Amino acid sequence: MVSQFSYSEVPVEAHALRLRYAHGERLACQVEDLRLKKGQCLVLCGPSGSGKSSLLHLINGLVPGYYQGEIEGSLRIGQLSYQEASVECLASQVASVFQNPATQFFHQEVLQELVFPCENQGMTASDIAERLAEVTKAFQLEPFLERPMESLSGGQKQAVAIASATMQGTDIMVFDEPTANLDATGVERVQEMLLALKQQGKTLIIAEHRLAYLSEIADSYAYFYEGELKELWEAPVFLAYSEKKREEWGLRTSDVASYQARVEELDRSFVNDRSGLEVQNFGVYHQGGYLYQLEHLVLAPRQVVGLVGANGSGKTSFARSLLGLEGDKTGVVRWQGQVLQKRKRLAKMAYVMQDVRLQLVTERVEKELTLGRASTQLDDEVLKAFRLSQLLGRHPMSLSMGEQQRLMIAASLLSDKDIIIFDEPSSGLDRGQMEQLATQLQLLKAKGKLVLLISHDAELLARVCDKVVDIGNLKTS
Ligand SMILES: Nc1ncnc2c1ncn2[C@@H]1O[C@H](COP(=O)(O)OP(=O)(O)OP(=O)(O)O)[C@@H](O)[C@H]1O
Ligand SMILES: [Mg+2]
Repeated sequence: MVSQFSYSEVPVEAHALRLRYAHGERLACQVEDLRLKKGQCLVLCGPSGSGKSSLLHLINGLVPGYYQGEIEGSLRIGQLSYQEASVECLASQVASVFQNPATQFFHQEVLQELVFPCENQGMTASDIAERLAEVTKAFQLEPFLERPMESLSGGQKQAVAIASATMQGTDIMVFDEPTANLDATGVERVQEMLLALKQQGKTLIIAEHRLAYLSEIADSYAYFYEGELKELWEAPVFLAYSEKKREEWGLRTSDVASYQARVEELDRSFVNDRSGLEVQNFGVYHQGGYLYQLEHLVLAPRQVVGLVGANGSGKTSFARSLLGLEGDKTGVVRWQGQVLQKRKRLAKMAYVMQDVRLQLVTERVEKELTLGRASTQLDDEVLKAFRLSQLLGRHPMSLSMGEQQRLMIAASLLSDKDIIIFDEPSSGLDRGQMEQLATQLQLLKAKGKLVLLISHDAELLARVCDKVVDIGNLKTS
């Protein structure tokens, strides 16, 4: 069906386009004029909550298909427009890749996941086999075809998500922060895949905070601010702007390499200070299975410790085992010299997950912030720092990704735990918020807490960490 449409030279065109969500106070996305040429790559940048994902959702039909909202103006996808075609029909012209690949998988095995979009479109078995051969070859996925999805690392999952979207055979593909949870190798892999897709003539629209890896792929950049597309730059013009200008616009650095070098220089030694956390003969588990052993780790309080290591090296599993959420049977965990039994650990430790959506349990932001606390008092300073004051009455699921992340980080700051573990907290944050987060982590440290920071974000690690622990180097079996 998809191939019946002959694309015009302008696959995406918007005029006086306006979106207001059903529960939104202000316009979430406003685009006066946007014309994208076939085969071009447009990058959407701008602070959190500025309307980037909303534009992607208009293009892939999630609005109004999934999220309800009022749409004005015109939006054309290929030769179809909102006024003339059904949402399903428009949406079938666009393949989507999201920040967290797990949210878009339907099957347990890589091969099934790849062929699913084609089966769904009613393609013949021989056409599916042909497309599968092309896509697996282009993205070098042959060794993974038989693997169960859950056995893949974050970077490998994202590669499958991109390949699976490519299997749909659409000319237009949209990506919402596709590298947010990936390490440097994972980012490189996504970069290669995007380049290959561009060479195949696909039209790509990518919303991102991490901009450095896109500089050789992007043809133009759209800058969003407070729900409006404010500037549209050709790539050379945007790339020529100084670091200082980017900072003013709230955009992340283009110079990741210098931050990576600073992380390399951070302290990696241990002192035998038992006034904080001590972990001995500790088995790290993942989904009930034993992964590896950590012999001895001593971390003093009043510091921020970066937990680093490639995607799949077991950082999150370490955090979950430490929290007592996974089954360690042999090891000892002490805090200030006292043994912390498994069931007592959650009383001492707070955890901010990589996918914060899984942690949102109440129906109001305000409730989420006071959950599990005796007092319902909110700290104005924290609310202000995380720009949550205006969002207190909102449903947490109606917030943008960055807003949700800020909410959970603020909730952990307000809790009275001694050890706070953050799992990739800056993945959905813009520059200003990343800087705010760095300040807040320093504040936690000053209050005597031990902050464990699992992150691939070299800029954040370099700014806040006193010490770095490479999980890959600590494993003993
Ligand atoms: N389903 C929804 N219902 C109501 N308001 C929403 C919904 N989704 C997003 N919004 C609001 O619309 C505005 C734009 O959000 P959007 O998700 O497009 O931002 P973004 O630029 O992608 O941000 P981020 O960088 O944090 O992902 C925000 O004010 C957000 O709170
Ligand atoms: Mg977004």
